[in-house]
Amino acid sequence: MKKPDKTNASSKLSYQEDGAPYCQRFDDIYFDSESGTVQSNFVFIQKNKIKHRLKTAAKTFTIAETGFGTGLNFLLTLQAYLETQRDSENKIAPLHFISVEKYPLSKEQLQQSLSILPHLQEFSRSLVASYPEAEPAQFEQRFQASFLNDQVHLTLIFDDAAQGLSSLKSSKQGLVDAWFLDGFSPAKNPDMWSKELFNHIGRLSKEQATLTTFTVAGFVKRQLRDIGFRLEKQLAAGKKKEMFFGVMQSNPITRKGYQLRPRIIKPQHVSIIGGGIASACAAYALTKQGVKVTIYCKDMTVAQGGSSNAIGALYPLLHQQADDISNFYQQAFWRAKGLYTEIAEQGFSFSHQWCGLLEVSYKEALAKRQQAFENLNTWPQELIHGVNAAVASKLANIDLPYGGLFMPNAGWISPQELVKQVFQAAKATNRLKIMTDTHITKIRQVEAASPQVESANNSSWCLSSNQGEFNASVLVICGGADAIEVEQLSALPLTATRGQVTSMESNPRINKLSTVICHKGYLTPKNKGIHCIGATFQKNDTNLKPNKADDEYNLAMLNKCMPALSSDINWQEKDITSSKARLRCMSQDHLPLVGAVPDIAKHIEAYPHLAKDKNWPYTQAAPCIDNLYILLGLGARGLCSAPLAADILTAELCNTPYPMDNHMLYNVSPNRFIVRDIIKRKIPE
Ligand SMILES: Cc1cc2nc3c(=O)[nH]c(=O)nc-3n(C[C@H](O)[C@H](O)[C@H](O)COP(=O)(O)OP(=O)(O)OC[C@H]3O[C@@H](n4cnc5c(N)ncnc54)[C@H](O)[C@@H]3O)c2cc1C
Ligand SMILES: C[S@@+](CC[C@H](N)C(=O)[O-])C[C@H]1O[C@@H](n2cnc3c(N)ncnc32)[C@H](O)[C@@H]1O
Repeated sequence: MKKPDKTNASSKLSYQEDGAPYCQRFDDIYFDSESGTVQSNFVFIQKNKIKHRLKTAAKTFTIAETGFGTGLNFLLTLQAYLETQRDSENKIAPLHFISVEKYPLSKEQLQQSLSILPHLQEFSRSLVASYPEAEPAQFEQRFQASFLNDQVHLTLIFDDAAQGLSSLKSSKQGLVDAWFLDGFSPAKNPDMWSKELFNHIGRLSKEQATLTTFTVAGFVKRQLRDIGFRLEKQLAAGKKKEMFFGVMQSNPITRKGYQLRPRIIKPQHVSIIGGGIASACAAYALTKQGVKVTIYCKDMTVAQGGSSNAIGALYPLLHQQADDISNFYQQAFWRAKGLYTEIAEQGFSFSHQWCGLLEVSYKEALAKRQQAFENLNTWPQELIHGVNAAVASKLANIDLPYGGLFMPNAGWISPQELVKQVFQAAKATNRLKIMTDTHITKIRQVEAASPQVESANNSSWCLSSNQGEFNASVLVICGGADAIEVEQLSALPLTATRGQVTSMESNPRINKLSTVICHKGYLTPKNKGIHCIGATFQKNDTNLKPNKADDEYNLAMLNKCMPALSSDINWQEKDITSSKARLRCMSQDHLPLVGAVPDIAKHIEAYPHLAKDKNWPYTQAAPCIDNLYILLGLGARGLCSAPLAADILTAELCNTPYPMDNHMLYNVSPNRFIVRDIIKRKIPE
């Protein structure tokens, strides 16, 4: 390792009147005496979710910092560690804190600087006690110490940040989980923020490593993006108004290039073909990020497609094990519940009830499944848990002969009302325009006026419709099952499945039902005097006219699964108040398709060796059609999956961190099917 140049290495420290340590060399304070602790705690500890991640870390959690200074961030980390350990039943994973400091303080300076933070005394005492005694110019290049019963290890490298980081070794998986990029602003300290520094940050970061920094300089943003971080400008607490939060998600040196999504310059305007829950959530998320949105909807008003039902259930698709599908729907469910609550709290009201949902174990196989859920105990109780018949009857407020799996946070919503209100909430930003009665009949690529995709080939879209032609620089298709007909999407494995729901008039034997019941079909509590029962599943049938046979099927399904309840309710044909048939847009693997539309021919050209070896290393990013995106395949759970899918789409278009890791993100990537086909040698020569 190169010896650090210790000439002129003094920190040039002085103290302000209030005792705040001040660095003459960089003409800036180390921390503000009043709000410094709160600011640093907010930006570095809270924004990196240090406590939560410590709690869930399976092995050593590593934080790396540029600029140790007075050690304030380290002390806050010690405090967070201790509090997390106190809140946890089990011993939490060890922590390694690495910090690089070119102009170290002496022990006395450190002690005096920290003396104005009495609330951190417990930690500063032990730091000062173990800090090197010598004059800073005589410090060994590397200093190590342990804290909190050896659970926290500190490595201090007294060197320039880039040099110091160059001495750290990293495995293929990376070393660092969270970065604290401190070290005075690039305006005051341009030398530290060098290209080498960013390269080492990239080299040492684990996938999903986070970073925070008070610096929001444009070149820092570009350098961090070049090494694979996705960034979001956020508000910081206290006097420093802005900060960056970033997540390592697009590592350019990945061996699975086909998982890399195209990078786009954040558009000012996005055009969406839609009108259902997918487009409403996308419009809401995008307009909140400052993007203008135009919706093209073929119907006279929104929410006339799959999202037009009177009542729909909001609940996740969960298996006994935490597999990919369940993990997606678990996250999607909490996101959906949070978003819909946020919309209602803003005063955009829609009929709904968080009354829970009971999947009744009406046959032996389901009772065994319930038992397996209970034995494996994969999911938290607030998500799903088993109940016996007595508890089930109490929850449902009617007599039930079966127990089941209860989801206490689930419930029902009027999708039609919800969609309208989500659009209203998006409209309140003044960034949304909805064009109804506008049927987009064809889309074609045209040369773009200004480039969107950062890399190649830029084009925009010309939309033909019954209302004339429109131009779209970025186009998102959220057209539900109708989108299957779009020429550019014809190779995607999406299918339409018809479903009919029957609305039944309430009567005194069922009007007290207080939770959603799912059997093979479902039965919802009363809303505006009706209950919904359903639904049918018919592949290869796209007829939107409801028919009598399907109403009879829905009644018969209730009767078959829950005969006692059905005979008690005693619904007759005359009790049917209305019926509705619509199409679900289904994917092969029950997960939605969110992101850029893959260029299938170029995928086949780009990744041929995957057919011989599925781990063949390819660095080339997925070839996609410029500026064409989809949010499709919401299947039978669109109410649950649309908000999270819209967040993914918005992150993609706005260049901000994705709400999930690369593995989960790839599971909803529109190109996953073509890559799977190449691997399975299903591509004709
Ligand atoms: C019978 C039935 C019961 C269901 N029950 C539930 C449930 O209980 N819980 C649940 O979570 N999900 C349920 N679903 C699924 C859920 O309704 C869908 O997943 C969801 O509505 C899909 O929303 P979307 O926005 O993708 O599509 P849609 O709601 O179908 O919206 C598509 C929109 O795009 C517009 N459009 C399409 N093509 C064009 C074009 N070319 N030009 C202009 N506009 C166009 C259409 O007019 C429409 O407004 C059910 C579905 C059905 C059919
Ligand atoms: C704002 S202070 C850091 C505050 C510190 N994190 C804390 O918790 O007290 C910035 C620090 O970066 C250090 N620094 C400046 N340039 C550096 C460089 N090129 N390499 C390493 N450290 C540097 C400064 O000496 C200073 O201690």
